[in-house]
Amino acid sequence: MSAGEAVPILVSTNSDDRVLVHSVLGQSLASDSSAEDISLVPEVAFEPTLDSPGINRESQPLLGGLDVSYNQFPDDPTFSDLVWQAEVAIDNGIFPERISQGSSGSYFVKNPTGKIIGVFKPKDEEPYGRLNPKWTKWMHKLCCPCCFGRSCLIPNQGYLSEAAANLVDAKLNLHIVPKTKVVKLVSETFNYPRIDRQKARMKRAIMEQFPNVGLRFNRIGLPPKIGSFQLFVDGYKDADYWLRRFEVEPLPTRMAQKFQLQFERLVVLDYIIRNTDRGNDNWLIKYDQPSIVSNNVNGITQMEATDTVDWNLVQLPEITIAAIDNGLAFPYKHPDSWRAYPYHWAWLPQAKVPFSRETRELVLPLLGDMNFVQDLCDDLHLLFKQDKGFDRGLFERQMSVMRGQILNLTQALKDGKSPVQLVQMPAVVVEKRVEKSQGQHTSRFLSFTQRFQDKSPFFSWC
Ligand SMILES: Nc1ncnc2c1ncn2[C@@H]1O[C@H](COP(=O)(O)OP(=O)(O)O)[C@@H](O)[C@H]1O
Ligand SMILES: [Mg+2]
Repeated sequence: MSAGEAVPILVSTNSDDRVLVHSVLGQSLASDSSAEDISLVPEVAFEPTLDSPGINRESQPLLGGLDVSYNQFPDDPTFSDLVWQAEVAIDNGIFPERISQGSSGSYFVKNPTGKIIGVFKPKDEEPYGRLNPKWTKWMHKLCCPCCFGRSCLIPNQGYLSEAAANLVDAKLNLHIVPKTKVVKLVSETFNYPRIDRQKARMKRAIMEQFPNVGLRFNRIGLPPKIGSFQLFVDGYKDADYWLRRFEVEPLPTRMAQKFQLQFERLVVLDYIIRNTDRGNDNWLIKYDQPSIVSNNVNGITQMEATDTVDWNLVQLPEITIAAIDNGLAFPYKHPDSWRAYPYHWAWLPQAKVPFSRETRELVLPLLGDMNFVQDLCDDLHLLFKQDKGFDRGLFERQMSVMRGQILNLTQALKDGKSPVQLVQMPAVVVEKRVEKSQGQHTSRFLSFTQRFQDKSPFFSWC
C-alpha cells in the first residue's frame, strides 16, 4: 500500500448507543477559573491540623486561596489526602523544592514531616508556559506549532500529558506510571513574576496592619498554580544506573524474565502515547537484590544469591519499573523522522525479544475492542478539555495519532513481533469522522480512515 493512501477500516459504531461514564478527573477539575481569579476570592484564616486529612473539608478554606473544590478526588480519597498533606506542609513553611536536574520547573513536594511525597510540575513553568493561552491558541492555527520547540507537540500542555499517561496506564492495567493528577498548589518557592510577588507582599503588609481586612487574603498571597502532581515512588533509581549494572552483572534468569514483562509494559505505554522523551533518565527501576534467608542459631542470616539458587527457598526479589516524566507525549502528528525522537529503549537487548504471551493477554483484549479505544479517547477528552488553550481540532489529531499507534501495536502483538520490529512499522493515523446515514431513519455513524504517513519511520542500530 502506498504512502498517503486512505483506507476505510472500521465502520459504524452508533455513538448514541454507548454509555459514557467517566470519573477519571472528578468534577473538581471542570472549573474554568484561572489562578488570577482565584487569588481574589476572599479567604478566612484557619489553623491546619494534621488530623484533618481532607475527607470532609468543604468548611475549611485552604491555604493559597484555593477553591475548595480543587484538589479533591471523590473517587480517590488516598490521593486527596496526599495532596492535602502537601498543602498542610506548605502552610507550615515546608515548601516544595525545585528539582535541580530538571529541565523545566519541577518540584519535589513534601508532607508535614518533610518527606518527599510527590513531584509537581506547574503548567506555567513549562517551556513557553508564560505565553498567554489565547495567544498560543491563535498561533497554533496561524502557523505550525513546531515553531514552539519540539515539533509535533502542543506546547504548554505537558502537565496534561503527564496525567494522561497515567490515565492510559490505568486503563490498560500496566501499573508502571505513578499516579498523576492535575492539582493546584501555591508556594513561595515556585517561580512567580515580580508583579505577583509584589502583590503578595502588599497583601501580607495589609494583614499585619489591619488583621480584619487581612482575613480576606490567603496566608501566602500568591496565586495558585495548576500543574501535574505525581506520586513520588521510593527506592527507585534512574534506569540508566541499573541498566549499566545489568551489563556487568546480568540478572538471574527469573529476574530477567520479570524485568522483560515490565519492560514490555513500558514499550506498550510509550508506543501508544507516542512519547518523544523516553531517555533512560526518564524511567526508573527498583530492584531489591536477591537474598537467601537461612536460619542459624543466631537467627536470620542473609547471603548472596546466584542463578543456581533454588528460588523456592528464597524470598523472591522484586524488580519494577516506574515510567516518569511523560510530559512530552500525545503529539498531534507523527514526528517527521523517527530518528528525531526515538524510543531509546529500542536499543536495549530486551527490545529484540518478541512480546510475551503475558503482555499479549494483558492488552490485546482491550486494544482490539474499538469501544475500549473510543472510551479511552473520551476520557482523554475530559482531561484535555480543561486546558484554556484546548483546541478540539488538534485534540482529534492527537487521537488520530494514538489510534494509529494502537492499530500498529495490536497488529504487532498479534504477529508476535518484538518492540524493535514494532518501531519499524510505518507510522499510521486513524482519523475519525461522524457521518449521517440516509435511510428510513437518519442516524449518526462513526467512520474511521487509516492513513499512512508520507515518510516511513526508519530505524538503525547506530
Ligand atoms: N514520581 C517520581 N518518583 C521518584 N522520583 C522521581 C519522580 N519523578 C521524578 N523523579 C526524579 O526527579 C528527576 C527529574 O524528574 P523529571 O520528571 O524527569 O523532570 P524533568 O521534566 O524536569 O526532566 C528524575 O530524574 C527522578 O530522579
Ligand atoms: Mg526528565
